Amino acid sequence: MRRFLVGAAFFALCTATVVAQEADTATGRILALKICAACHVVMPAQESPPSFKGPLQPPSFQDIADKPTTTAQSLQVFLSSTHSSIKLSGTMPNPELNARETRDIISFILSLRARP
Ligand code: HEC
Repeated sequence: MRRFLVGAAFFALCTATVVAQEADTATGRILALKICAACHVVMPAQESPPSFKGPLQPPSFQDIADKPTTTAQSLQVFLSSTHSSIKLSGTMPNPELNARETRDIISFILSLRARP
């Protein structure tokens, strides 16, 4: 019995660790509303509309999710780059997210996708 309990506890611990490492879509949504909503329509029901007045209109997260070229990897590259190839002022600044924030926000964006 004792051995079983130790085994069960160990198993539970492993499962918890795995879950903790998975991207968290709900956290991603909260982060996106906090960090990205000043410029992007993160979701139609967000509290305040984006107030960004640059030469380029930031696409809504729905549009980003629906673009056929959008993948977890393309988002990863975009969000971790400094956009040094984009010389226009008014383009998106590097949001300086850490790895976990990046992963959670990507998971949120991809969850908006209508298609599988
Ligand atoms: C200061 C305004 C601003 C903020 C804050 C901002 N963005 Fe942007 N974003 C833009 C603009 C402008 C563009 C379009 C021009 C460009 O590509 O730089 C853009 C483009 C993007 C694109 C590329 C879309 C495409 O065409 O594929 C992604 C992805 C993106 N933003 C995600 C985010 C995420 C995630 C956050 C929050 C962590 C964020 N943005 C915060 C202004 C902003």
